[in-house]
Amino acid sequence: MQAENGNGIKTRVFRVSDENFDAVLEEAAELIRKGGTVAFPTETVYGLGADGLLPKAVRKIFEAKQRPPGNPLSLLIHSREDLQQIVRNVPENAFKLMDAFWPGPLTLVLEKSDSVPAITSGNLPSVGVRMPDHRIPLELVNRAGRPLAAPSANLSGRPSPSSAAHVLADLEGRIDAVLDGGAVTIGVESTVVDLTAEPPVVLRPGAIGLEALEEIIGEVRLGYENANEAAGEISSEKRAGQKYGHYTPDTAVVLVEGEGDQVSEKIGELAGIFQKDGLKVGFLLSEESASFLDSKGLRSEDSEEWFLLGGREEPDMAARRLFEGLRILDLKGFDVILADGSFSNTGLGLALLNRLKEAASTRFEV
Ligand code: TXA
Ligand code: MG
Repeated sequence: MQAENGNGIKTRVFRVSDENFDAVLEEAAELIRKGGTVAFPTETVYGLGADGLLPKAVRKIFEAKQRPPGNPLSLLIHSREDLQQIVRNVPENAFKLMDAFWPGPLTLVLEKSDSVPAITSGNLPSVGVRMPDHRIPLELVNRAGRPLAAPSANLSGRPSPSSAAHVLADLEGRIDAVLDGGAVTIGVESTVVDLTAEPPVVLRPGAIGLEALEEIIGEVRLGYENANEAAGEISSEKRAGQKYGHYTPDTAVVLVEGEGDQVSEKIGELAGIFQKDGLKVGFLLSEESASFLDSKGLRSEDSEEWFLLGGREEPDMAARRLFEGLRILDLKGFDVILADGSFSNTGLGLALLNRLKEAASTRFEV
């Protein structure tokens, strides 16, 4: 018999501390070596890892996440030496980016070697590789002795997890273990850059921004869904990994983009219209929009309706809180979530706005 919400697996939860680090990592590495699935924190979001070179282990990731076959997984490595086994024809630009940003929130798409199975790379001739800046996955890869296939540890189509609780909400009963290492520091997934293209293409914005990349390797192109005009120029093969839906809560998200108080005003106006129609509305707001709506007397008695991401000029904090906010609001049974797109696009702002756009079913520009 399968458990109702799972694959009938008992998911073990390990709280990782300095005292038990060695023992827990050894046990987790053993699970990986046996072909199991283990979720763990990274500096970006929680990942779900399995032996990336073992098709039957990788298949368990697809099953647990209900991830569409063909959506490529990326590999986490522990040291540069791990690269030899999994990629070939690594261009000079890749080494420059590794020097500048590894370990860190940057996934490099490179030509794969034959040892990477087709199920891992989604049948593509390339594979994404990242050296995370977090001792838990680094040590897990090191002890397992294998690169880990490690997508974000959420059910496919759900917001990425920024805590062990988010992982359990989606995957309890579907995976072998979760290593609870506390909250993540960045909160949105890594920047993905395809180096098999010339000039290289940014497939997903993240903590490593465009200017930082261009400073190291010169011109790069933007190839993600919301990157405006640039996206149209990228061939469908290059965007192969990007064609799957992401970050969509069950509740419809309406995003208002634009500058400052015009956004707050539009949110207030839309809230009025929706509420008049009898719809229950949740709000994902900057602090400024919350104050604006408060000052207009638009705050309802029920403060449960509001999730504050942070100040408009603090996009890094907002990015860290985004997935938590989407998950919390999504559980409250609203008919619609009104989301604030007035954050500055500096730092993690571009990644934040990209995730908001992907979560949105309707977008307004003011
Ligand atoms: O920060 C992160 O990257 C997190 C942590 C856990 O490491 N991982 C993560 O994995 O976000 P995932 O699978 O959820 O997202 C990886 C992205 C996907 O959009 C995938 O389609 C793309 O990278 N990708 C992977 N390999 C690719 C390839 N060979 N070509 C194009 N896109 C690729
Ligand atoms: Mg993901």
